[in-house]
Amino acid sequence: MAQETNTAELQQDASSGELFLPTKHVLDKAIVTDFDALRERANQNPEAFWEEQARDLEWFSTWNTVKTWQPEIPKVEWFVGATCNITVNALDRHVKNGRGDKTAYRYIPEEGAEQPSSVSYKELLERVNRIANGLKSLGVIEGDRVTIYMALTPDLPAAMLACARLGAIHCVVYAGFSAPALKQRIEDSGSKVVISSDYGWRRGKKVDLAAIVKDATDGIACIEKQIIQQRGDAPLPEGALSLDELCAAQASECEPAVLSSEAPLFYLYTSGTTGKPKGICHVHGGYGVGTSYTQRIAFDLNEDDIYFCSADPGWITGHSYVVYGPLINGATVVLGEGALDFPDAGRWWKMVEEQKITIFYSTPTAIRALMRFGDEFPAKYDLSSLRILGSVGEPINPEAWLWFYKNIGHENCALIDTWWQTETGQFLISTVPSYPTKPGSPGKPYPGITAKVVNSQGEEVPRNEQGFLVIDSQWPAMMRTIFGDHERYAGYWQQIPGYYSVGDAAKMDEDGYIRVIGRTDDVMNVSGYRIGTAEVESALVSHPAVAESAVIGKPDPLKGESIKAFVILRVGFEASDDLAAALKKHVRVELSPIAMPGEIEFVPSLPKTRSGKIMRRVLKAKELGTATGDISTLED
Ligand code: PRX
Repeated sequence: MAQETNTAELQQDASSGELFLPTKHVLDKAIVTDFDALRERANQNPEAFWEEQARDLEWFSTWNTVKTWQPEIPKVEWFVGATCNITVNALDRHVKNGRGDKTAYRYIPEEGAEQPSSVSYKELLERVNRIANGLKSLGVIEGDRVTIYMALTPDLPAAMLACARLGAIHCVVYAGFSAPALKQRIEDSGSKVVISSDYGWRRGKKVDLAAIVKDATDGIACIEKQIIQQRGDAPLPEGALSLDELCAAQASECEPAVLSSEAPLFYLYTSGTTGKPKGICHVHGGYGVGTSYTQRIAFDLNEDDIYFCSADPGWITGHSYVVYGPLINGATVVLGEGALDFPDAGRWWKMVEEQKITIFYSTPTAIRALMRFGDEFPAKYDLSSLRILGSVGEPINPEAWLWFYKNIGHENCALIDTWWQTETGQFLISTVPSYPTKPGSPGKPYPGITAKVVNSQGEEVPRNEQGFLVIDSQWPAMMRTIFGDHERYAGYWQQIPGYYSVGDAAKMDEDGYIRVIGRTDDVMNVSGYRIGTAEVESALVSHPAVAESAVIGKPDPLKGESIKAFVILRVGFEASDDLAAALKKHVRVELSPIAMPGEIEFVPSLPKTRSGKIMRRVLKAKELGTATGDISTLED
C-alpha cells in the first residue's frame, strides 16, 4: 500500500514514521472516494474526462471539439466552438436554481475598521450587473482591459466579475505593489479604465491606494477613466468617478456577453526570469471547468461548507480559488481583510470559531509565522468546525505541516498541499481528502494530468532522484498566451522538448508521490510570492548610487527564501549602513515591500561569464558554502 513505504524518508524529513490517513470526520463527506481509480479512468481518456466535467456547467451553445493542441505554435483550445460567460456559472445559475439567498461572501474587516457584512449570490449578481452597466456607460467593450487595484472587500470580486460580464479583460494588481510596478502593468496591458479603492486596511492603518494610483497613472495615455470605491469621505481626485455613484445610476440587470469559450477572461502579471513581468492569459471556458472541478475534489466542497482562503485576489490563488472556483461551486467564502497577526496572532483562529469555517486554505509562510507565535493562540479558540486544511505556494516543511495538522486540524482534518502555478490556473499535483498524505509532498498528478521528473534531455530520472518537473499533457485551465509576447509563452515548451517545463526541481518516490524542492530558474519564492531576481536588480540599478547588482534567494526558516543583493556602487558613492538602508527602501518604493532585500552586500565586482552574464549561481554557492558547479565559463 502506498502509505506503508518510504518511511525512511518520512522519518528523516518529518521526524515521524507516521502516515496520515483520513479520519471518519473527513471520509463522511468525501466526494472522491477512490483517487487512484479516478486518476486511472481520467488518464485513459482525458478529453472525455474533462468533457464530462464541462457538462456540469452552463453553456450558451456547446462545443464541436473538446480540445485542439498545436504544439508547433504552441496553441491549445478547449471546448472549441462553444459559447459561454463565466459569470453565468458563477452567479446566474445559482440564483436561477433557487440559491440566490445563499451567502457568497462574508467580509471580515480588520478589528476596529469597518463592520462585517455579507453578500448573497443574488446581491452579488446585482452589484456585478450595476458595475458592468457602469463600465459599459464609459465605453468599455469586449476585449478592453481594465486594471483593478483594490482592497479586499466583496467589491473586488464584483469588479472582476463585472469585467467578465462584458467580455472585458481584468488585470488585477495586488494592492501591495507600489506605483512604478502598477504603472508598468497598466501600460503593458493597455488598460482603458482603472478601478481602485480609496484605501485599504493594514495593521490598523489606512493604506492610501488612491494616491498610489494617482502616481501610477500620471501621464499614462491609455487610461481614460478612474473609478474609486469610496470607503471614506475624502473628496475624489479630479476626473475620478465614485463606484457607488456609478452603480446607483445603473440598472441591476445586465445581459452577459455571449463569448467564445476561448475569449480572454484576465491577464494576471507574474514574475519570470527577466525584469518584465508576464501577463498570463486565461480564458472563460476551460478556466471555469478546471478551477471549479479541482476545487471541488481537493476540498470536498459541499453545499454547507464555509470556506476561507487567505490569498488576495491580486494573486492567482485569489482568482482561481477565492473568486471563480468557489463561486462556480456555489460556496460561501470568508474574506478577511488585513494582516494575519492584527490585533494578535489569534485573528484567523477567532475567525474560524466565529464563522464556523470548515475549509481553511493558506501558505506555509503564514503557518510558520503563526507557529512561531505559539500554540496558545489556536488553543484559545474552538476550531472543531474545521474539516479540511490546505497549503499552497511553496514547499511546506514537515515541521510546519505537522504543527498545522496537529494544532489547527487536531489530527481530525485532511491536510491538502496543492501544487500549481499562475500559468497552470488550476491544481495539477495534490491529493484529495480521502487519500493518504505524506508531509512535505503535494501528492500525485491530478486526474487527466501527466507529470514526470526528467533530466535535461527529457529522460525520466530514477525514483527518489532529483530532476526537472515537467507536464506531459494539456488541461482546461492552462494559460493560453502571455499578453503581447507569445514567443515567451512558447519558451515553456522549448526548455525540455516535448514537455511543459514548470521551472521547479522535484523528486518522485516509489509510490508516485512528488516532492517539490524549489525553483530551478532565476525566480525566487519569498513567503510564497514569486519574485524575479532581475526585477529586484532593475529596481536597484534605478538608484543613482548603484552601478550593478546581482540578487539571489537564500534559504530562510520563515519565508522559505529571503533576498540578498550584491551591489557595485558608482564612483563617488561610499558603502555604508545608511546607504544599504536607503537601497532597501528604494526597492520597497519601486517594486513592493515583499521584494525588499533583507541583506545588501557592497562588492567591488561580480562573477560573470565571458559574454557578461552575471553568474548568480556562483554567488549563491559562495554564500551558502556549497559547490559552485561548472565555472568554466567564468570570466576570470
Ligand atoms: O515553485 C512552485 C511554487 O510556486 C510556483 C508558482 O508560483 P505562482 O505562479 O506565484 O503560484 C503560486 C500559487 C499557486 C511553483 O512553480 N509552488 C506552488 N505551490 C507549491 C509550490 N511549491 C511547493 N509546493 C506547493 N504546493
